[in-house]
Amino acid sequence: MKKIVNITSSPRGAASSSIRLANVIIDKLKTAHPDAVVETIDLVKRHFPHLEESHLASFYTPAEKHSEQDRAAIRHSEEMIRAIREADILVIGAPMYNFNIHSVLKAWIDHIVRSGVTFRVSEGRPEGLIEGKKVYVAISSGGVYSEGPMKAYDFIEPYLRFILGFIGLTDVTFFRAEGFSVPGIKETAMEKVIAAVTVD
Ligand SMILES: Cc1cc2nc3c(=O)[nH]c(=O)nc-3n(C[C@H](O)[C@H](O)[C@H](O)COP(=O)(O)O)c2cc1C
Repeated sequence: MKKIVNITSSPRGAASSSIRLANVIIDKLKTAHPDAVVETIDLVKRHFPHLEESHLASFYTPAEKHSEQDRAAIRHSEEMIRAIREADILVIGAPMYNFNIHSVLKAWIDHIVRSGVTFRVSEGRPEGLIEGKKVYVAISSGGVYSEGPMKAYDFIEPYLRFILGFIGLTDVTFFRAEGFSVPGIKETAMEKVIAAVTVD
């Protein structure tokens, strides 16, 4: 039985194109793996926290010395890393905000990229410690970044490819719902990407 973990980061709920595209990917995954189960983690609705002093203190204090405050602070990180470890497939929804990901998705990354837990450095080289997961990313944007003059200004795909790979998530496929602000493109943007979605 495959476990799919669906990470959403759009505040727009039912109106969100990244959530809609992620759901298309999930539907296709469920067709390929009919017994798959899906857990959705909505980072916006759960007010996923940005890193504060208490989180950092908990990361850098050995578990056996954790105070009650440390245990409360590290809960977000532990829960998200456990979700990743339990997943066979991750689906990440990424709306473009100011040419990059929404800050809540960055906050999630800051809680899951942990030295000695999801990566380690040996002999000066970083090594990702998460293995064997497939990742699909559903990007949504007003402009077009897959080709043309704005391609160089997409910081989502290069950043996510790097940081996910850094913790060992190297099998990553990106799909883009794009051009929702561009007349002549926006009208067919969603149906175009839906037609392009293929999954393993
Ligand atoms: C605060 C904000 C910043 C945005 N910045 C960009 C941007 O830099 N480039 C772009 O192409 N679209 C930008 N957009 C448009 C969104 O990427 C687009 O509406 C996308 O569909 C949002 O994803 P969602 O539908 O999943 O919420 C921005 C939208 C908002 C609200």
